[in-house]
Amino acid sequence: MTPPFKKTEENQPILEIYGKSPLSGEVIISGAKNSALVIMAGALLCPQDCHLENVPSLADIEKMIQILESLGLKITRKGQTLEIDAKNITEVSAPYDLVSQMRASFFVIGPLLSRMGVANIPLPGGCAIGARPVDLHVRGLQAMGAEVMIEHGIARAYIKGNNKRLKGTKIYLDYPSVGATETLMMAATLADGETMIENAACEPEVIDLANFCIAMGAKIKGAGTSTIIISGVDSLGSVKYNIIPDRIEAGTFLVAGAITQSELSIYPIIPEHLASVIAKLEAIGSKVVVEDFNRVKILPAPLKATDIETLPFPGFPTDMQAQFMALLTLAEGNCVVTETVFENRMRHVAELQRMGANIRVKGNHAIIQGVPLLSGAPLIATDLRASAALVLAGLAAEGKTTIQCLQHLDRGYDDLEGKLKKLGAKLHRTTGVSETRALF
Ligand code: EPZ
Repeated sequence: MTPPFKKTEENQPILEIYGKSPLSGEVIISGAKNSALVIMAGALLCPQDCHLENVPSLADIEKMIQILESLGLKITRKGQTLEIDAKNITEVSAPYDLVSQMRASFFVIGPLLSRMGVANIPLPGGCAIGARPVDLHVRGLQAMGAEVMIEHGIARAYIKGNNKRLKGTKIYLDYPSVGATETLMMAATLADGETMIENAACEPEVIDLANFCIAMGAKIKGAGTSTIIISGVDSLGSVKYNIIPDRIEAGTFLVAGAITQSELSIYPIIPEHLASVIAKLEAIGSKVVVEDFNRVKILPAPLKATDIETLPFPGFPTDMQAQFMALLTLAEGNCVVTETVFENRMRHVAELQRMGANIRVKGNHAIIQGVPLLSGAPLIATDLRASAALVLAGLAAEGKTTIQCLQHLDRGYDDLEGKLKKLGAKLHRTTGVSETRALF
């Protein structure tokens, strides 16, 4: 019996990449997606205006705007600036069709509950990289005095008692979850008393969110360490805030330089946000120079196989694993890439193998034997960072690579193609018939 094939579809957006063009020049990094999304949710905490600068142009940002508007917020976007007026929240239930498309929408539960005493948020559900449960978010809110029931795929949360206020408490996270740390830190800003979050995530985006909340008048200490202490206040006020540069976009362009053997300059960056990425690139043989504190330059060098293991920050970021795997397929020697954060984040392997990469997956390890070259091939993108990895591999491969399912890329990279073209890459977006593949 022939396996069922994905039906072909006409007029699908397809990215065509002609490999082996050397890159050169400087690329400007946009604001951090994973800061902007959670800070937008944090604007729900404040009954006055929030003015956000350096907000990237991404599909996920548009989705978050829709979700916040569905709750009654007034949002105006001017280029990289967002004006958010959360004076009147008219709805406490987020729409399923929007939340189900983007996990970050679940971030609204903490601020909405704190502000309104009630929040009904559909569970974001799993995605390409894993089940992505929200049990740590839910258990933390319950520890702060919220009733949270999961009914028909919706987390229904409300605060018991008359004063509708969460209570400060001590919370230990079983895993240093970025999202759970952010949800609970936001909820605690308006709680009655002090909240201590232990085994908190230390990612730069957590620090950015804390700085945003502090700018609104929140009392937060220890963000960026594994113990965060929040003293609840009665209300928060207007703020003008500038989002940090996107360390994952910056890391992706560093790999673009390494994989095409090009000299590239990347700006702005915050060097300490890229310490593990720069250390790994240097271990692989690249020369990386940090200039005038917020610019980094990568110089061409032969690539040497180097093991990688993803870990919570300050360890090597899981969001850079796919991009480094593309790079390591062309490195001299054998190495192992181990993914410890998500249970299903190796879906780019099958696509890289179609280009001639020599990779064997065993559990959460990918054993890579370097090959002298990759050849262009028709590829299907499966998730955001896998898409970036396929673009990078296409830039280095002989011949033409086509990538479909570009919706993943558009979620998390602000004009990646335009920025690559400015550096000399030969690629363009067209339409065509979708690639047919056996579904299993
Ligand atoms: C954030 O996701 C980022 N997304 C992810 O970036 C990033 O990969 C991840 O942090 C880790 O750094 C945003 O900030 C919008 P986690 P998040 O909670 O918060 C488990 C990208 O490509 N877990 O730290 O969802 C979970 O299953 C995206 O930009 C629970 O078990 O990540 C995972 O195995 C992808 N229960 C691990 O923790 C929970 O309640 C890490 O997840 C929460 C998480």
